[in-house]
Amino acid sequence: MNKIIIANFKMNKTSTETKDYLVRLLSRFDNAGDDRLMLCLPYTSLAIGKFMLEGSKIELCAQNMSEEDEGRCTGEISGRMLKDAGVEYVIIGHSERRKKFKEDSRIINKKIKSALKNGLGVILCVGESLADRNTLKTLDVLKEQIEDALKGLYENELEKIIIAYEPVWAISSGKTPTSKEVEKAFKGIRKIIAADFSAKAGEEIAIVYGGSIDVKNARQFADVKGGNGLLVGGASLDAATLMQIVAVV
Ligand code: 13P
Repeated sequence: MNKIIIANFKMNKTSTETKDYLVRLLSRFDNAGDDRLMLCLPYTSLAIGKFMLEGSKIELCAQNMSEEDEGRCTGEISGRMLKDAGVEYVIIGHSERRKKFKEDSRIINKKIKSALKNGLGVILCVGESLADRNTLKTLDVLKEQIEDALKGLYENELEKIIIAYEPVWAISSGKTPTSKEVEKAFKGIRKIIAADFSAKAGEEIAIVYGGSIDVKNARQFADVKGGNGLLVGGASLDAATLMQIVAVV
């Protein structure tokens, strides 16, 4: 099956830096390849991203959105605005937002519904903390996070959802779980979706792994049974490195 590679720039790169990056990326990117490449840019880089990715199959994505469509939410950006900016998918529920911005499951569920209503796909991030892992609660945490996030969704809406399994302790730490642990998590996620929606939905949901991916380990984690690709943070910030990751998976 074709792989999905998602790059999350986080709070990095001005629009000028994104432009230089995209010049380099596009000179190396094979538009005829079968894999999906999705770039989650900062809001201020979306306009240049849209302009430069025109005609390329690289997908323009964002990293967050408001749960509201419009109104008195100073500083926020809505799904409606992202759609208008040419965005196709948006990350929701990243652990950095859950922690730093206190995003709870109720807000994450509202954001997902608003994204879908506005015609956006969702990259839903889930994953356990180190304490959860050490107390063997990984699968319980995944179940709670996924069920809360997807509450009230119709099965056909899952087509537009990619679940990113990102153990919180593996993000930017240089530490990763074993392939077996990731395989177990993927299997658990498919089981949760199968139980809540249908066996077919459990088989078909797209799942990627994220957390300290680099050129050396990309292939190993892209090949984990039950997975569909990778979510890459730090290593995606250099265009040549991201293209090496795309090449090895
Ligand atoms: P790193 O690849 O830098 O560990 O980040 C992972 C991540 O949080 C992507 O969303």
